[in-house]
Amino acid sequence: MRPVRKAIFPVAGLGTRFLPATKAQPKEMLTVIDKPLIQFAVEEALDAGITHLIFVIGRTKRSIADHFDGNPELDALLRSKGKDDMADYLRNIVPSHCCCIYFRQAEALGLGHAVACAAPVIEEDEPFAVLLADDLMNGPVPILTQMVRQHENTGRSVLAVQEVPRSEVSSYGIVDTDMASEGSLSRVRAMVEKPSADSAPSNLAVVGRYILDGRIMQMLKTQAPGKGGEIQLTDAIVRLIDGPGIDAYRFDGQRYDCGSKIGFIEATMAHALAHPEFGPEVRRMMKAMMASEEGKAELAD
Ligand code: UTP
Repeated sequence: MRPVRKAIFPVAGLGTRFLPATKAQPKEMLTVIDKPLIQFAVEEALDAGITHLIFVIGRTKRSIADHFDGNPELDALLRSKGKDDMADYLRNIVPSHCCCIYFRQAEALGLGHAVACAAPVIEEDEPFAVLLADDLMNGPVPILTQMVRQHENTGRSVLAVQEVPRSEVSSYGIVDTDMASEGSLSRVRAMVEKPSADSAPSNLAVVGRYILDGRIMQMLKTQAPGKGGEIQLTDAIVRLIDGPGIDAYRFDGQRYDCGSKIGFIEATMAHALAHPEFGPEVRRMMKAMMASEEGKAELAD
């Protein structure tokens, strides 16, 4: 079995839920405190042993390539000011044994189409990861690393899943699995993209981390448009179920939906509170704000 060494980052979506911030910049460059979402995802991939970082970029995505490129002027400036630690940190965002590969998705025709843009560098017998950087994921062990461990045991594709309220199933790909167990891994029997609440087979939603069988690239080539007229990754994944098989994996950790404004606010608050330097000050600020809000409410009563 080949190890998972390549990861695809589809970053060519239009990010309409985050306008106006995403009018001229990709949502994956939005920062939580001081780090762009895409860098969180890249760090997670590197932890999992990924060496080939494959970005599928769109019209406004040059800043992503710039972010992962060297910046000799900035490097020299930082070093001249004695800020060698920051210069070294920036230089190692992409370690020297790793490489970045870029594909362009000319038109946002769907997530499945974006993944298929990277087909020229994925071999048929080669498993690969897909990370959606607008899902910011934290866990005691990075989520993709947890998934790679599962894949090493089974050799099957792995989808990260989490339970969502029934009222939200229509925003996700929803899986039907072979057991209602509390265990973390279960075989996928069926998967539906954005079902209505009453037709959904469960409330187990697929979130933005996948390890996929290389053969899916062949399936994506012939994949017809599905829900919303887009070429859906879900529809091609369904075609793997009866072949090599797929597992749903309930990961150990949290997911923040940073494609939505409220999810991004939650991620920022959680990261600010946990920040080693600013955490205590942020906690004080939040308490003071809450007390002031409660005071205003009492006065209004
Ligand atoms: P989303 O549906 O969340 O992203 O796609 P979007 O379309 O950019 O956002 P909204 O809904 O308009 O706000 C999930 C991921 O797939 C990528 C996006 O960049 C995001 O990482 N994607 C989606 C592509 O790369 N190409 C596409 O054609 C569609």
